[in-house]
This record gives sequence, C-alpha cells and structure tokens, in this order.
Amino acid sequence: MSVLLPRIVVLATGGTIAGSSANPASSAHYQAATVPVSQLVQAVPALADVARVEAEQVAQVDSKDMMFDLWRMLAARIGYWSAQDDVAGIVITHGTDTLEETAMFLHLTQACPLPVVMTAAMRPSTSLSADGPLNLLDAVRVAASPVAVGKGALVVLNQQIHAARDVVKAHTSAVDAFHSPVAGPLGFVQDTYVHFSRTPGPDQAPRLPVPAAWPLVEIVASYAQPGRVGIDAMVAAGVLGFVVAAAGNGSVHETLTAALVDAAACGVAVARSSRTGAGHVAIPAPPRPAGGVFVSAGDLNPYKARVLLLLALAGDPSLGRDAARLQALFERY
Ligand code: SIN
Repeated sequence: MSVLLPRIVVLATGGTIAGSSANPASSAHYQAATVPVSQLVQAVPALADVARVEAEQVAQVDSKDMMFDLWRMLAARIGYWSAQDDVAGIVITHGTDTLEETAMFLHLTQACPLPVVMTAAMRPSTSLSADGPLNLLDAVRVAASPVAVGKGALVVLNQQIHAARDVVKAHTSAVDAFHSPVAGPLGFVQDTYVHFSRTPGPDQAPRLPVPAAWPLVEIVASYAQPGRVGIDAMVAAGVLGFVVAAAGNGSVHETLTAALVDAAACGVAVARSSRTGAGHVAIPAPPRPAGGVFVSAGDLNPYKARVLLLLALAGDPSLGRDAARLQALFERY
C-alpha cells in the first residue's frame, strides 16, 4: 500500500538559489533570480520521496531590492495556501542578502499553524557544488516534518535549522554564512532525520498585523564624528522611528544623541541596537527611558529591530511618545 506523502508548497521569490552564470566555476559573478522555481524543483528528484511538492513563483527578485509589497504578497500567499485542507507546510525560497529581514517579518506576522520554512543558497544554481538543491530538499524535509509544527517561522540552510527571529547572514560568501549569534541554531537536518535540540524562545505574544501603510523608519549608525544633518532631515521628512546601530553595548555618540533627543521630543521612536553583530544591548533601568537614554532593541540587530519598529509604529504611530511601552515591545518579541 502506498503512503500519501505530505503536500508542501514552495513559494519562490528569487535570490541566488535561483541564480545562474555562464561560468560554473564562479560563485561570485552571476545573475541572481533568473531560474524559474519549476526548474529548481525539477533539479532535485529526491523531493519526490519526501513530499508532493507544488511550486508558485511569487516573485523573481534579487533580495537587495526587497519591498514591503512583496512581504505583503508573501503573507497573502502563505494565508492562501495554509487554508488549503491538505497542505502540510510551506517553503519560501529567498535571496540570502536580506533573508534575515523577511524572516523577522514572518516571525512577527505569521500565526500560521503549519511549518513556514525559508531557505536560500550562497552559490547560484549553475555553480560547481551549488548548495541550493540540498538546502531546498532539507527545507522541504523540515516543512513536511511533524516535529516542525508549532515552532514558528524557520530558516533552513547548510543542514541547520534556525529560528526566523534569530538568524542573520554573517559572511559575504561562505556556505555556512547563516548563524543565530545569541541563541544558536534550533536543530539540524541529516538526510531524512530532522532534529530540534531546543524549541524557539518563550514568545507567546500575538502576531502583529501586516500593515496597509508603512511608516518611515530608518537606521542610523554611531561612529567617529558623525553629523546630525541626516537625522534632522529625516525627521523633517516625517520619519517616525530610528534604530541606531550603536557602538558596543548600545553607546551612541554625543552628537547623534543630541539629534535623537530632539527627534524624540517630536515623538519619534528611537531604539538602540548594536553594530557589534552579537549580544544583548543593556536595557535602561527604571524609570524608563527619557532624555537621551533610548530603549534597547535587545539582541536584535539593527535590520531586525527596524522590522519590529516598522510593524509597531504602523499599528501605533504615537509609540515614540511612550518609551516604556516601546521597551516592553522589544522585550516581548
Ligand atoms: C539575493 O539576496 O537575492 C542575492 C544574493 C543571494 O541570494 O545570496
């Protein structure tokens, strides 16, 4: 008697996993987002032993050009497919360059009961030793696995399973470019064995709505002798929130601090992340932030912190006037 394999939907958005080059020996010079997802699936015959795979080309972009409309479209397609009775899981193929931001968006917005698993590749599909085919197979294995249910949005690359909230790209070209610098990976995939060593963090908070309109939220960095003209111009242009890529444990240059205090006085939300790449930015002690001691983005890097601030300010544009509530939000998600 033949067993019916789980039905898994692959939503493709482009990236190097769909990249191609005339020179298979080059992994650095190629065109991202050129190969249709039907071809990527066909290139991995082993998928047929794991799942009934259906593929949809949602977009074909280099992820450096990611736009909010595509995030919204992805959320809508996840909603559509997860409402189909017999779909067991969803895989999203994506470029590696901004995967951590889309992963954060999915972490914050998706209450989908099925596994939602992102994957990508560091080498184009035509490369010698392309990593995309195994990453795609492993992502489908995870999406089809009952042990992945209820774990939130996941990212599978290089045989590791990461929480979408935690994972970052930490190398320009290495195949093991993805890490979860503070929390570590959730588990691994070894052939047919999908193993979770731990479950994602204790975040029980409700997921945030996908905005109809997106506020202006920007990232500024603290470094030697920064100017404040950029901040002042952005406030004048209507920016509602800043994430500071601060030095060390959240230290902000006094010139920027002065500009950001002025911005905060106009109701602009300011959160400090760290430019170090790992670690938790100290949370200001109560009484909660005032006058230049801005809220902490915790262990979120500036790009991930910006996604949270975007969604939070879309829901409540006045959040910048309530630093205690803003801090609570960063501690919650
Ligand atoms: C992209 O992010 O779309 C291109 C780079 C990559 O996927 O590695």
